Amino acid sequence: MKLKLISNSSSQTRNIGEKIGKVLNKGDVLGLTGNLGAGKTTMIQGIARGLGVDSKQYVRSPSFVLAHQYEGKFPVYHMDLYRLNTKEIADLDCEEYLFGEGVCIIEWIEKMHKIPAREWLHINLDFLPAENARKITIEAKGKYGKLLKSFADNI
Ligand SMILES: Nc1ncnc2c1ncn2[C@@H]1O[C@H](COP(=O)(O)OP(=O)(O)OP(=O)(O)O)[C@@H](O)[C@H]1O
Ligand SMILES: [Mg+2]
Repeated sequence: MKLKLISNSSSQTRNIGEKIGKVLNKGDVLGLTGNLGAGKTTMIQGIARGLGVDSKQYVRSPSFVLAHQYEGKFPVYHMDLYRLNTKEIADLDCEEYLFGEGVCIIEWIEKMHKIPAREWLHINLDFLPAENARKITIEAKGKYGKLLKSFADNI
């Protein structure tokens, strides 16, 4: 299942993220793709809000820390692979995040050539010509199809 949405502002992107966050379950894996500044971290702020993460636990682009952890309904692990090279990514030991008790959200997931989780929810953000406009494509395979349907029913 594939869903395409248009967002016209960062707050709209956060609100879409929040609705996604509300339907997530323990163990879910999300992969975000899109160019620099497209709005991946902005979307994750909303997803974290939907998962009950207090906004005081500021969600930002992780810089030198591999994984940020936030406490919501369940733990939320936020990883950003942008600054890692191919070897560092291949050596990543992220099983505990991917198959743990929380929700794992990975920015720049396309840099991972081998993704340990077979299924994940793919969220892509693209710039559109109008300022502040973004195309958001959400693609769900396997068990995520049901999740995306419940999101789509409530949008
Ligand atoms: N519709 C929109 N959705 C999301 N962000 C938007 C939108 N319109 C404008 N913006 C702005 O674009 C920027 C997106 O930055 P953000 O850090 O979320 O991008 P990113 O994809 O995570 O970038 P990076 O690859 O550097 O991590 C923010 O400054 C945000 O305010
Ligand atoms: Mg980012």
